[in-house]
Amino acid sequence: MSLTVEAALKDANHQILDTSTLVRVVLSGRRRNMTTEFERIDIRPVEIKGGVQLQVSHNDGRATTVKNIVPDTDAVAKLLEGGYSNILVEHIEGSMSIRITKSGEAHVHHEKKSLEQNLSHDKKKARLLDPSDPFLLEVGISDHKGLIKASKRDKYLQVEEFLRLLAPTLKAAIEAGQIHRPTEENPLKIVDLGCGHAYLTFAAHQYLHSIGVAVVVTGIDVRTASRDRNNSIAENLGITSTINFRAEEIATTTAQQADVAIALHACDTATDDAIAWAVNGGAKLLLIAPCCHHDIQRQMLESPEPWGALTKFGLMKERLGDLLTDSLRSQILRIMGYRVEAIEFIGGEHTPRNLMIRAVKTQAAPDPVDIQRYTQMCAEWGVRPALEGKLASFFIG
Ligand SMILES: C[S@@+](CC[C@H](N)C(=O)[O-])C[C@H]1O[C@@H](n2cnc3c(N)ncnc32)[C@H](O)[C@@H]1O
Repeated sequence: MSLTVEAALKDANHQILDTSTLVRVVLSGRRRNMTTEFERIDIRPVEIKGGVQLQVSHNDGRATTVKNIVPDTDAVAKLLEGGYSNILVEHIEGSMSIRITKSGEAHVHHEKKSLEQNLSHDKKKARLLDPSDPFLLEVGISDHKGLIKASKRDKYLQVEEFLRLLAPTLKAAIEAGQIHRPTEENPLKIVDLGCGHAYLTFAAHQYLHSIGVAVVVTGIDVRTASRDRNNSIAENLGITSTINFRAEEIATTTAQQADVAIALHACDTATDDAIAWAVNGGAKLLLIAPCCHHDIQRQMLESPEPWGALTKFGLMKERLGDLLTDSLRSQILRIMGYRVEAIEFIGGEHTPRNLMIRAVKTQAAPDPVDIQRYTQMCAEWGVRPALEGKLASFFIG
């Protein structure tokens, strides 16, 4: 059904204000010749001090901002008139969706369905890992009561947020044909480089199996004590046919090539070893959360002007060194035919090392601009990233 925008928004406003039935509202897209303040706004009713308010949230790509407003015609109209072209209003008996076309018409669609309203204020993220899963007890994250140990809470959250990115990235890469569809006969090969106590290694194995993805997971760590401990946990869990651990240097590991390479806080240039091993072996997907960065820091002896204004402060120089290291790594990956993103995978309160490099192999030919930027950055700073020398083929120029 087509309506004028004014009539459609009035109808939506009316439905949103009926907080006894409202489930949620999503505002997205952009109307022609209009700008929106946020890419998307989510609204839902929440119970606060015995009354119902509207919880309005939006994300700027890094953090989600949430504010509660009193349901009121003018406040809702302001949101609805914020330039969004798609408006979805769900209530307990169905939904109303409005699409505002380029010619300024409102196409309205109503659908009947039964939905549940949740007025709880703190809508907790659904946990991917059940704290009472035996593997969490075995690796030492949970205690015998099935509760996360206070000392392991940050690591548990890091692992869970890592998985929250791994699973959809994997799904998208499989759907795009960038990674084969895993089967029991041809499972996905995942290698965790610098796995330590293997919290992430076991979690990836358990979680992916739980959602029906056939995987064989290998954990590599230079420490023999880690290998022995982790293999013995795998035995206790009865999963040795699909998970194994090796005590080897990443750079010289005998592990076979992987479809997916993951690394969580592999120290300094061990992260470069991990990226190089994955790229040299043709891994299709890399999720790498680096740790300390000393390689480039050590090489930053003279700053090209005007950056001296920044590097004269030790703290800023260190942070810039971290960013320079990860941007050069990302640039190398781009040149090697990967699509690369840098993501904050968890809030800084859980670890200051919260940047993740996510790279998907696309086989795209390197963009000359990327090569030029890379060579220029290295030349201006007088640095040569460790990663460059570890790659079997890295020819530029
Ligand atoms: C900071 S810990 C992180 C462990 C684990 N990924 C986690 O997040 O809990 C880094 C691990 O990398 C291992 N490591 C460092 N350099 C390595 C290398 N060159 N080859 C293999 N393992 C290495 C260390 O032994 C250590 O267990």
